[in-house]
Amino acid sequence: MPKKLIVLGSSNVDYILNVPHFLAPGETLAGDQYQVSLGGKGANQAVAAGRAGADVTFIAAVGDDDVGRSAISQFQQDKIDTRLIQVVENEKTGVALIFVNSEGENMIGIYAGANGAMTEAMVKPLLPEISSADLLLMQLETPQEALDLAAEHAKKSGVRVVVNPAPARALSDRFLSFVDIITPNETEAELLTGIKVESDEDAALASQKLHEKGIEIVIITLGKRGAWVSQMSASREIIGDLIPGFRVEAIDTIGAGDTFNGVLVTALLEGKSLLQSVELAHAAGALAVTKKGAHPAIPWRKAIDQFYLENKQ
Ligand code: RIB
Repeated sequence: MPKKLIVLGSSNVDYILNVPHFLAPGETLAGDQYQVSLGGKGANQAVAAGRAGADVTFIAAVGDDDVGRSAISQFQQDKIDTRLIQVVENEKTGVALIFVNSEGENMIGIYAGANGAMTEAMVKPLLPEISSADLLLMQLETPQEALDLAAEHAKKSGVRVVVNPAPARALSDRFLSFVDIITPNETEAELLTGIKVESDEDAALASQKLHEKGIEIVIITLGKRGAWVSQMSASREIIGDLIPGFRVEAIDTIGAGDTFNGVLVTALLEGKSLLQSVELAHAAGALAVTKKGAHPAIPWRKAIDQFYLENKQ
């Protein structure tokens, strides 16, 4: 029986404008390409897991609008169980306004919309579903009160808790004590630990601070460089190393981190080692940056395996 994954998080529609450079205050700039596509950190991670072959259920809230309904039918095509997605009356599906510069970097502004309705009250009736899973994956684009509730319940039920702490915000020690695996980027790691991550030594130090909160595995994603992967044993010994990523020409990094997270947990649930799982996640993330948009760029498993086999050192 495949192990069961629950992703709890946001679902957005992304309005993406490619511009030559990021705008300065007061500046008006013509973009050269415009795309409207599905996104949201939670949805991207659920789609990445679904396309990678996980048995994935998505807990999310969409608006009572056409884009919310079409997101649900798209999730089904991406092999996601959508039973637990709520349609919130008189609310719009979340929106992300995104600028992408010529380097493929992005700037994102969010309107939470229906994502803001994912409160404790909405998640409480779904707790039995969470305890029946093997792993719960969450991000920070939905209200913290529901994340607190879900994390505590999962931990107490023996369900592995993985948190991608994006977008960056401070987290309580209590919440972090329920987390088994955390996957910040450099900015998020700095916000959580106070350590600016500019070298492997900084990454090791930041990881140690997060291990001290009780977290077993810390994966700090470092963009092109790969990821610092650090594990604390039961005897509290810490072993960390840099796992390099794959070199590709980045066109657009939207959703690449989300793809990494969705594929990482899929591989872990298949019983792959931490190292193999990170490598497969790197392969998926590398493929995602070669295409534009979030959902449109997320690769299917066949492509990930093929890329991994062809490019692994
Ligand atoms: O991580 C990328 C995502 O962030 C985008 O799809 C956008 O919706 C925002 O949530």
